[in-house]
Amino acid sequence: IKEKQENLRSPICCIMGHVDTGKTKLLDCIRGTNVQEGEAGGITQQIGATYFPAENIRERTKELKADAKIKVPGLLVIDTPGHESFTNLRSRGSNLCDLAILVVDIMHGLEPQTIESLNLLRMRNTEFIVALNKVDRLYGWKTSKNAPIRKAMKQQSIDVINEFNTRLTSVITQFKEQGLNTELYYKNREMGETFSIVPTSAISGEGIPDLLLLLVQWAQKTMVETLTYADKLQCTVLEVKVIEGHGTTIDVVLVNGALHEGDQIVVCGSKGPIVTTIRSLLTPHPLKELRVEGKYLHHIEVKAAQCIKITAQGLEHAVAGTSLHVIGPDEDVEEAKKTAMEDMESVMRRIDKSGEGVYVQASTLGSLEALLEFLKSPDVEIPVSGIGIGPVHKKDIMKAGAMLERKKEYATVLAFDVKVTAEARELADRMGVKILCADIIYHLFDRFNGYLKDIKE
Ligand code: GTP
Ligand code: MG
Ligand code: NA
Repeated sequence: IKEKQENLRSPICCIMGHVDTGKTKLLDCIRGTNVQEGEAGGITQQIGATYFPAENIRERTKELKADAKIKVPGLLVIDTPGHESFTNLRSRGSNLCDLAILVVDIMHGLEPQTIESLNLLRMRNTEFIVALNKVDRLYGWKTSKNAPIRKAMKQQSIDVINEFNTRLTSVITQFKEQGLNTELYYKNREMGETFSIVPTSAISGEGIPDLLLLLVQWAQKTMVETLTYADKLQCTVLEVKVIEGHGTTIDVVLVNGALHEGDQIVVCGSKGPIVTTIRSLLTPHPLKELRVEGKYLHHIEVKAAQCIKITAQGLEHAVAGTSLHVIGPDEDVEEAKKTAMEDMESVMRRIDKSGEGVYVQASTLGSLEALLEFLKSPDVEIPVSGIGIGPVHKKDIMKAGAMLERKKEYATVLAFDVKVTAEARELADRMGVKILCADIIYHLFDRFNGYLKDIKE
């Protein structure tokens, strides 16, 4: 058993929810940092990643007397934006994680992006824990800094407890309306069937020990298979970024296996496969955010799970949301190139075989996949005949225009979180191709339905 325990990798946990529910602040509270106040407008606009070593989690959960129970080396937490325009990043985050924290503001209950996040997690069958945040805003709340939630509750007056119970019940009802059973975590006897709620405050830290412990224990209990360290490399490109002094770099999440300086890698590029050599492997210090530029640690080798910044030549056209591959000593470069482009090709294969359907354009491979899955779901069922990544150009309009003679309503571009060039718009007008844009997946469906109605009238 010992060997097996040592072989567990860190679970990857994504933090999701509506804008301003306190996702970044919760992570700040755990890290002892202040990333949130440094963000433009106080909103998160990129995916962030932080590594929490097991010692840190042990320290924070001490009061719950669970020392010996932490078997994973740490926890890799991915912060996502809650703003409605960043569906693609929520989708990318939910795509990568082993489990998630869904943050709900106790004063607001379920909000549009809470529901969107919930649906993304359900789509991928990802287990999650609900953090019912901002309990310190209950009128008359008495602070007990960083205390386990039951201890903190014991300090509260009857009025605070009554208000807490009313709001909790209302949140549970709202989840039920979404078809989900939820319950306070310490009353939850059927985890797996019923999702657990942990009340928290990101300002005074109540409930943080409970949240951390529950995450780790739940992961260890239900995901041993997934978390057993394997040599097979699994690595996803999160962001492609220009960094002063380093040129174009890629931020990756290493889910499994290890990366080394000097490894020959292949990544999917929008202009074909990119073969290059890892110049350096950089990570932020533990408990520091990958997003916050600062001092990086250099590594010769990094093992999963970790977030890493890779510097190498020729990364300019790397596609965010695709897999990174290492070319082994006996591996054929041409084979590896093919493998690297598979992500893109597997998405291509989802196109409707009948050749009839709308044209879909999205900003990243991850958001394109999320959109295709959504369009395929039983209550939507919009067929797709063609897809693209990046801004909508004239050539995309030409492709969509092929439907004009077959089924006019399908001569439509569903553009998700991408720009449309002026020439493309002009051509679309001339040809009679409809362009429908949205930053939120569900809006595309509404717009398309609205358009169908207009046509019929
Ligand atoms: P986005 O990333 O933009 O979606 O927001 P977020 O969910 O990361 O929320 P953020 O951490 O930016 O917090 C939003 C605001 O709520 C900030 O002003 C925080 O100080 C405040 N806040 C967050 N958590 C708490 C909490 O537990 N209690 C109180 N009183 N305020 C909080
Ligand atoms: Mg945030
Ligand atoms: Na915010």
